[in-house]
Amino acid sequence: MALYAIGDLHLAGQTKVKAPMQRSSKVWKNHEKKLKDNCRRLIHPDDTLVLVGDHSWGRKLEECELDFQYIESLPGRKILLRGNHDMFWEAKKTAKLNAMFAGKLEFLQGNFYTYKDYALIGTKGYCYEGLDTPEHAASLVRREAGRLQISFELARQAGFRKFIMFLHYPPTNIYERSSIFTKMAEMYGAEQVVYAHCHGKARFHDSIRGRKNGILYSLVSGDCLNWEPQKILP
Ligand SMILES: [Fe+2]
Ligand SMILES: [Fe+2]
Repeated sequence: MALYAIGDLHLAGQTKVKAPMQRSSKVWKNHEKKLKDNCRRLIHPDDTLVLVGDHSWGRKLEECELDFQYIESLPGRKILLRGNHDMFWEAKKTAKLNAMFAGKLEFLQGNFYTYKDYALIGTKGYCYEGLDTPEHAASLVRREAGRLQISFELARQAGFRKFIMFLHYPPTNIYERSSIFTKMAEMYGAEQVVYAHCHGKARFHDSIRGRKNGILYSLVSGDCLNWEPQKILP
């Protein structure tokens, strides 16, 4: 039994959308096959795989059907976190998605799931990337920090004291050494923070990687891992 994570599949079964990075970079060539082969080699039926956001280019659920079929076909239990490109997923409709996909997929956003005696905490997160005003970014960070706190508190109320924290966005932007997200991870005693979103070698070190203040930070975007899910816990 093991817990794995990988993010940013950016599937396009129906939409056939290809971002520039997907057209020009060798690592993206046949990435769906590379990931499926790696999952079949590594992941057993009793393992858990957390997919750390940016699942599909589909903007509506109907445009994601083939992508969900692909994800469902991967081995093990699958937990999906919300990414910035997951337009099919409105934050308020997470419970509805969980009902729709009951028994097949689980959707992590402001709720929590469990793995052994750990609570798996998660929300999309946010960090300033120069694409909006600092004020707007600050308001999104506050909203996401609130959702993260709800996730931690629900798990604490359920009796959990061991946490793995998942964010789609990096926990800090390129100007920060810490953030409300790293502080919350420290305050609640998360053992690990797992995030994705960063694509291309130039961005793999935009945020914290490795151990800081006793917490292990991992970037698990698919192109960074060359489509091999990372083992988070045995
Ligand atoms: Fe992405
Ligand atoms: Fe993203």
